[in-house]
Amino acid sequence: MNTKHELELKEKNISKLLLEKGMVVCNKHYPGHPWSLVKLVLLGTWAYVYTSIMKKNWRGRIRYIDLLAGSGTTEIVETGDIIKGSPFAVLHFALKPFDDYILIERNKERYKALKQNSKLLGRITEPKQGDCNKLIKDLFNDPFYHNLVFVDMEGFDLTWENMEYIIGTKSDIIINFPTSSFERTAALENQHCLDEFFGDNSWVENALDREEFLRFYMEKLKTTFFKKRRKTPYVESIRVGKGSYFYDMILVCKNGNYINAWQYAKEKWNGQNPQEMTRLLDHLKGRAPRLDDF
Ligand SMILES: C[S@@+](CC[C@H](N)C(=O)[O-])C[C@H]1O[C@@H](n2cnc3c(N)ncnc32)[C@H](O)[C@@H]1O
Repeated sequence: MNTKHELELKEKNISKLLLEKGMVVCNKHYPGHPWSLVKLVLLGTWAYVYTSIMKKNWRGRIRYIDLLAGSGTTEIVETGDIIKGSPFAVLHFALKPFDDYILIERNKERYKALKQNSKLLGRITEPKQGDCNKLIKDLFNDPFYHNLVFVDMEGFDLTWENMEYIIGTKSDIIINFPTSSFERTAALENQHCLDEFFGDNSWVENALDREEFLRFYMEKLKTTFFKKRRKTPYVESIRVGKGSYFYDMILVCKNGNYINAWQYAKEKWNGQNPQEMTRLLDHLKGRAPRLDDF
């Protein structure tokens, strides 16, 4: 049950994801669902925290890197609403502007839309089309930049070799971990996808189900962060979605007071009921009266 204040806060966050009037967008949208709103709010929340801290404490420049960027917009298929995609969510939640955006998309049609939409992000590096796994080493070779990296996977797409490389760079990382897809992927005869994602096949013995796989991966993120960066890691997940389909948004960064913001977000958004998101959207779009369940 939400208090009035919590409900207003949720409305405020979700309304930041609605497309502004006159915003020119290409007519090719990434298909999403009501829980995509939660994903984008969590990403936006960290963009806010990250930009407010880094602009004070980092002498170099800051970048947002979206390795699986989509088209720049999302269509909530259940309601037909078009909302901002991840790069625009970041733009509108950030307290201070990023100095650059690096956006990668493999799919040709989505890339075309992304390239057009990205003109609205200002003067940024031109988005790249291709497999992000093949581009990582070139992207992260400038130590003058601190990065907020978003890894928004549909499957277990990013190889461990690349994840390990990114952890070693000056980056905060948000990973969309497709937890509920674990059994289906593991059951396929060809398990090399999970081996590449995990870095070896030790998960077979150590992870009997999706929850164990998530925990095992998060442990690996922690130990690798400490090994590579020599700083205390913060690795914490927030569950998005409910029922048979869900994922976990994992934040990986250096530990500090600012992680309270992620803890707070976890209290408020963890396992959020997708129906509540639909009702909020209906209200914000003027299709239904306010959701007064406080
Ligand atoms: C979950 S969607 C991204 C949604 C987007 N982040 C958002 O919230 O608006 C993942 C995208 O990554 C793309 N993709 C999948 N594998 C890829 C890869 N190896 N390299 C680059 N893009 C990839 C897919 O075509 C898809 O558009």
